Amino acid sequence: MEKSLKILVLYNETLDQVAEEHAKRQENLPFMDKSLPTPDEEFEEIALALRSKGHTAQIYNIEDNLETLIQKIETFKPDVVFNLMEIFRFIPKLESNVAGILSLLKVPYTGATPQVLRNCQDKVMVKRILGNNGIKTASFIVTQELISLKDTGLKLPLILKPAYEDSSVGIENASVIREEDKFILRLEYMLKRFLQPIIIEEFIEGRELNVAIFGYPKLHALPISEIDFSAMPPHLENIVSYEAKWDEEHEAYHKSVGVCPADLPKNIEKKAKQTALNAGRLMGINDYARVDMRLTPQGELYVLEVNPNPDLTEGAGFMRSAHAADYSFADALDLIVRLAFRKKFHQ
Ligand SMILES: Nc1ncnc2c1ncn2[C@@H]1O[C@H](COP(=O)(O)OP(=O)(O)O)[C@@H](O)[C@H]1O
Ligand SMILES: [Mg+2]
Repeated sequence: MEKSLKILVLYNETLDQVAEEHAKRQENLPFMDKSLPTPDEEFEEIALALRSKGHTAQIYNIEDNLETLIQKIETFKPDVVFNLMEIFRFIPKLESNVAGILSLLKVPYTGATPQVLRNCQDKVMVKRILGNNGIKTASFIVTQELISLKDTGLKLPLILKPAYEDSSVGIENASVIREEDKFILRLEYMLKRFLQPIIIEEFIEGRELNVAIFGYPKLHALPISEIDFSAMPPHLENIVSYEAKWDEEHEAYHKSVGVCPADLPKNIEKKAKQTALNAGRLMGINDYARVDMRLTPQGELYVLEVNPNPDLTEGAGFMRSAHAADYSFADALDLIVRLAFRKKFHQ
């Protein structure tokens, strides 16, 4: 029997955000098979699963307040913090700094180090590191000003995305540019709307694979999960747009279905797992992550991004793969907590 631990499950939702989410979900009830949990319940499910493994677990919402976070850590004295932070003051880029604070406080925490979180948040950085190490990513340029399609040197179709967002923020059907005359208007809109560099990238037609990697000291690839777009109607792009990911009222939400294990030829499956492991190692992942990629009809793989600390909720890519590898929800969370202990020495 392994030691039972005192775990603080840390997340950050400002109260307004919680209220807003809740209101939205209530409104959407008729469109859902079952009511989605409110943010608190989502984290409570994680705590509950950890308790089922014999741990003591408490959830804690930072609510953008560092002072009370530090007090909480001093009084609760967790053995491990389960780090589910994704945003700070509505800025995803600040997520990594909270892990930095945990490092400074010398509390072991789950998932990636601040450096890994920060590097992976920067999609351009990821593409440069992977590209320089023989891993294919879509050809791209990054711009902070209006430029013509010709000056990009890229070929249609393209996809335009904000450089520093995640969770499909800024990714809509209209992000995919198939006609020359749509390009400049979309770029103008993106620059104004997001006030950050915009990535202009060649659109990779094909299947979308999520490859979860897990373990320490040795990383393993779990069974591959696929986003099945086969039911997507012709007027919608085969992408995980914001609507496909979050909007239960939208057709794209219901027509992008996670399937695991993906039905893939053996050689492609092997190549995809190897690519994910290489990409993860290059980015410094050494516990759990999800590498998203596209597979062309010609069998080429392009990495879209490396997600450290990916969504752990039931139904999201990582857990789908974990279940296919025979980890229950609680087993996977328990292992993630155990992996965090090495950081006592490696932070
Ligand atoms: N170059 C591309 N080719 C095809 N689809 C893409 C490309 N870039 C992004 N997408 C689609 O947009 C989704 C979100 O893009 P991604 O780069 O993963 O951003 P996020 O961090 O918001 O998840 C992907 O899951 C994929 O469906
Ligand atoms: Mg993504």
